[in-house]
Amino acid sequence: MLIRPRRNRKSAAIRDLVRETTLSAGDFIYPLFVHDSDENVDIAAMPGCKRWSIEGLVKEAGEAYDLGVPAVVIFPAIKEELKTSQAEECFNPDGLVPRAIKALKAAYPDLCVMTDIALDPYNADGHDGIVQDGEILNDETVEVLCKQALCHAEAGADIVSPSDMMDGRVQAIREELDGAGYHGVSIVAYSAKYASAYYGPFRGALDSAPKAGDKKTYQMDYANVREAIREVMLDEEEGADMVMVKPAGAYLDIIAKVKEATTLPVAAYQVSGEYLMIKSASAAGWVNEDAVVMESLMAIKRAGADVILTYFAKDVAKRLK
Ligand code: PBG
Repeated sequence: MLIRPRRNRKSAAIRDLVRETTLSAGDFIYPLFVHDSDENVDIAAMPGCKRWSIEGLVKEAGEAYDLGVPAVVIFPAIKEELKTSQAEECFNPDGLVPRAIKALKAAYPDLCVMTDIALDPYNADGHDGIVQDGEILNDETVEVLCKQALCHAEAGADIVSPSDMMDGRVQAIREELDGAGYHGVSIVAYSAKYASAYYGPFRGALDSAPKAGDKKTYQMDYANVREAIREVMLDEEEGADMVMVKPAGAYLDIIAKVKEATTLPVAAYQVSGEYLMIKSASAAGWVNEDAVVMESLMAIKRAGADVILTYFAKDVAKRLK
């Protein structure tokens, strides 16, 4: 036998040399939940995650930053009494998210702060868009999303990230930001966001599940590939700075194809259900958490993701150190 592939696997040193993909803390965006309270409260459906006070959020983000994680994305749990059918709280300059952005940027000016642009945490209906007679209104929603994005930019966000899947929102937000002089604020578009059962724990964490119906008229059908490419192309033309695929683990084929279709950086979101499956299987002693986490993230990177949103960001950054 002339050719023995195992020679390239014979020692840790050689395996290091020939490794094709690497993972580093610098790849991660760390999703964090914040609420309007002084307490940091454990989230039952997402063991290891908390609804942070603003002070707790700043501390947690700072610890991750000191371990090499360059960015966080914040998700607010909004009090029930502030939720309305028009979701006005989402552009309140004194609201929870603007206060959280200011606190983060004051403590860690070089930390990249990203915010989620969508109405679900603020909407009495629990949908990402405005609901009228059971229908999700596209253009009316986009107007509100623009106000939300501008409000976050004014508070100091580095990146706004529309996760709502309305048509035309990237261009509208770009024009809104540019019109107000925020040319430097980036847009990371959730371009291929699928209607996924893997978001369940997240909706529990924020009490943001839709009150009626589902999200299938705006989030994508998980049977589709070419539609994802179409959404990515549109977001690119509309001025997105990065595109995202979500969820990640069950959508590695989409990540790979999106990577080939665009020259923009590609982000992928390892979502709450992916997190919870690993957490619960390892808590039961059925898999080794550290090993499965690394393998799941390496797979997402290998598929083509340049950036990974993961609830494991801080843990993994600690281990990579
Ligand atoms: C809502 C939003 C969702 C997530 C991020 N932004 C939930 C949804 O679309 O219902 C899910 C994240 C996760 O599951 O970790 N705009």
